Amino acid sequence: MTLTPQWLDELRARTSLSTLIGKTIKVTKAGREYKACCPFHNEKTPSFTINDEKGFYHCFGCGAHGDAIRWMTDQRGLPFMEAVKELAATAGMDVPAADPRAAKRAEQARGLHDAMAAAQGFFEEQLGGIDGGEARAYLGKRGISDATRRAFGFGYSPDGRGRLKTALKDFGEPMLVEAGLLIDPDGAEPDGGKAKKRDTYDRFRGRLMLPIRDIRGRVIAFGGRILGAGEPKYLNSPDTPLFDKGRTLYNIDRASPASRSTGRVIVVEGYMDVIALAQAGFGEAVAPLGTALTEHQIERLWKMVEVPLLCFDGDSAGQKAAIRAATRALPLLRPGHSLAFATLPTGQDPDDLIRASGRQAMESVLNGAESLIERLWKHEMSVAPLDTPEQKAALKQRLRAISDAIAHPDVRAHYAHEFRERYDALFFARRDSAPAQQRFQGGGNSAGRWQRDKRGNWKPPIPPVGSEARAIGASGMEQRLLRAILAALLRHPEQIAPHREMLSALQIGDPLLAQLLAAMISLSFRKETVETQALLTILGQGELYNMAKGMLRADAFTLTPDRMATDPDRLARDLEEAVRVMAQGPELETALVEATRRFESDFSEENFAEQQRVRALKADHDRRLAELAQSEDIV
Ligand code: UTP
Ligand code: MN
Repeated sequence: MTLTPQWLDELRARTSLSTLIGKTIKVTKAGREYKACCPFHNEKTPSFTINDEKGFYHCFGCGAHGDAIRWMTDQRGLPFMEAVKELAATAGMDVPAADPRAAKRAEQARGLHDAMAAAQGFFEEQLGGIDGGEARAYLGKRGISDATRRAFGFGYSPDGRGRLKTALKDFGEPMLVEAGLLIDPDGAEPDGGKAKKRDTYDRFRGRLMLPIRDIRGRVIAFGGRILGAGEPKYLNSPDTPLFDKGRTLYNIDRASPASRSTGRVIVVEGYMDVIALAQAGFGEAVAPLGTALTEHQIERLWKMVEVPLLCFDGDSAGQKAAIRAATRALPLLRPGHSLAFATLPTGQDPDDLIRASGRQAMESVLNGAESLIERLWKHEMSVAPLDTPEQKAALKQRLRAISDAIAHPDVRAHYAHEFRERYDALFFARRDSAPAQQRFQGGGNSAGRWQRDKRGNWKPPIPPVGSEARAIGASGMEQRLLRAILAALLRHPEQIAPHREMLSALQIGDPLLAQLLAAMISLSFRKETVETQALLTILGQGELYNMAKGMLRADAFTLTPDRMATDPDRLARDLEEAVRVMAQGPELETALVEATRRFESDFSEENFAEQQRVRALKADHDRRLAELAQSEDIV
């Protein structure tokens, strides 16, 4: 299909840009132009201008600029051809078809789309009617609001073999079979000539219906959930001319525009996870349809953001899925484009987590996401023992296989390089002398002390001037360890006071985690012996309380198995080590940057030795951090 520039000009000329944009955001007339609050960046006063005459929009705030087609691709997230088709439909123009066969296919698809739209209407109507009572109760039980129910187009397929078939009989049975709405029991046999013709019947019976929509918001398939227990839990449409499971992402039509304002896309495993996330305010979530992520789906995600965030269960199935996606992405990697991995507490999907611990807990999981290389490295470190020389060499081979799978030469070179560095640091790092070690021990800026202000409130120490150290929590591992430490302190509040000094020196990146620790430290000054329950009560009912509750509940944050609670000395010692390792990260990083800078500006033997020494220390630290963050029972 070729679109001539003249045809495209005609399309633009017949499109009213202000009307088009006005469908999505509120626009107001201002002289000869229109104004709106820019949808491409956050603003309170409108600097987004639409000029119908020229057919352009322009934002004086962020520089977003384009025409009608650009609006459809950039704001709505449509592929170019889809954008053109949709605009053409509104403008009443025919998109030139390449050949008669394509035209025929388009005609047939139009019929299927109509059938799917009619089915969607039927299911929604049923959910609202007398037959839908049980399904409505089920939605209520799962905490799905009316607004969410409407936004996601929930419906109900009544229990009977011919309810939809009758309601949609005008489309004709062949069309409904082709759309996957009816099952033809003879359909699979190529020449059913002799066999007695059996009746077609409704595919979905007695199920809660979830429409699956394409990027343009048209229903192309359904997922039907059983009410309560039973098999299969979800029955999905078969692949049809409209629906290709491996090329579809659930909720892409809503997540795509949402991702434009958040700059993030979250990939989860299930329909209900997407829905729970949306209801909690994370509109930018999608899910594959019960299968591993395909290359197509990864490419589709990359059209939305450069680094989609995969959020899988911490159990072994979820982690296997994560590694499978990681492996599949390797040949496709290109500059800037990658995947990130957030790990949920074991046995909780996002729906469970949000229900149990709230939006903030979900946000924390997402903030703890790891890079692709980190995830792969950790996986390879954990799949086999690394005790003997042969096992160590085998690790090198596995890492090599990973970088070899990357097609893009620059990306491949960087992976190979970083794996080599990590590998060398792990096995060939020089052990160092005691005095050097000591420079980096102790808990960071321990010079400062907590002090009372005039009103008698405890105030944290002021960090020293010129402190360049970054905040803690930058890597997923640090996040994990930090949470584990906080959870251990929540379980054993009596341990806060003895470690107060080191704890208060930590510079924590996540404001809520920092606030929680600060609150715990200031409560540790109270006279009464603080117990977990008392601590929670004092924290009150807000976000901090919810976060603390979540940490106490979640298994993933276990730093202290119960058996250790009986040995307070060991607990104190191990907590101390965990906090010290935590505090060292940013210090060592700064030291390494400085040592490297010194060496680069003056290539002396001495500077080189110093740089190597700090590097080895940093590698040791990273390894210890990984061990601590990974082990289930650090303390
Ligand atoms: P889950 O069992 O995790 O689904 O399967 P869920 O969304 O959390 O469902 P609830 O909370 O129990 O209602 C993940 C995904 O795998 C596919 C679906 O796409 C589902 O959302 N799946 C699962 C099926 O296609 N068929 C099944 O029988 C089960
Ligand atoms: Mn679920």
